Amino acid sequence: MAMKTARKAAWVLVVWALAAAGLGSVSARAPLGREAQREFDYFKLSLQWPGTICASTRYCCASNGCCRSEPLQTFTIHGLWPDYDDGTWPACCRRTQFEMDKILPLKETLDKYWPSLFCSSSSTCFSGKGPFWAHEWEKHGTCSAPVVQDELQYFTTALDLYFKYNVTEMLSSGGIQISNGKEYALSDVIDTIKHAFGGSPQIVCKRGSVEELRLCFDKELKPRDCLTTLTNGIVSRRKHCPQYITLPTYDPLVLANSTREIMTQFNDFEVPAALYTS
Ligand SMILES: *[C@@H]1O[C@H](CO)[C@@H](O)[C@H](O)[C@H]1NC(C)=O
Ligand SMILES: *[C@@H]1O[C@H](CO)[C@@H](O)[C@H](O)[C@H]1NC(C)=O
Repeated sequence: MAMKTARKAAWVLVVWALAAAGLGSVSARAPLGREAQREFDYFKLSLQWPGTICASTRYCCASNGCCRSEPLQTFTIHGLWPDYDDGTWPACCRRTQFEMDKILPLKETLDKYWPSLFCSSSSTCFSGKGPFWAHEWEKHGTCSAPVVQDELQYFTTALDLYFKYNVTEMLSSGGIQISNGKEYALSDVIDTIKHAFGGSPQIVCKRGSVEELRLCFDKELKPRDCLTTLTNGIVSRRKHCPQYITLPTYDPLVLANSTREIMTQFNDFEVPAALYTS
């Protein structure tokens, strides 16, 4: 409890320091690398369950969160995504390249809670390849105006929501613990989140295990339901959640010594499939 409070206090301090330093005010760039995209309707905070993703890690590297000696046992951040109510989303909205310098004060917090779970670099909108954070900022962050104006605010907003709505804690308070093999009714997982968060989540699975859990927010950053129907017809059966699901753990020791890189991650990662909300 004391630990938790201390961590929260430290985070509040970081945000305060940034605000005081005026780092949040970055001049607006000329918009539009491609055709104009209309303003988004709501946000989706996408969280990943490392136990499921890291189970398929074959090779390791320093930048891969799966390769830490201590296994990740909480949901980590994938990204904050602006979405449309019709099931589609804007992407790559402004010619604003990711700059690590702009978020240096957040580096430690991002490393801890927003790690890449792969070794390969990610595709970016304007510079080709880059770190996981560059992909998220360029593809999604640049479409988050007018709520989010710049890179620093994008990462700060996502971290704030992540700290405020701790899904791992919501689940364990509702009796849903991480444990290898134990099955939980999908409806119980959904109801637990609904009750604690105040909106229906979207859950994405991989072979019966939770891969992602997504929380939705209106533009005032208040909880709302995620979409419950598919309107654009993109369905990926692979990501569909069965009636009973697991939140597996993984063994990092298996991964400790290898160094080669693996697989690209974003090919079919963000398909709005398996919209599991009750
Ligand atoms: C969320 O809750 C879990 C379980 O109580 C805890 O281990 C974790 O540190 C919390 N995460 C954050 C970001 O506070
Ligand atoms: C992995 O590395 C450790 C420490 O360098 C070493 O002791 C161990 O034998 C290695 N394991 C394998 C399977 O190579």
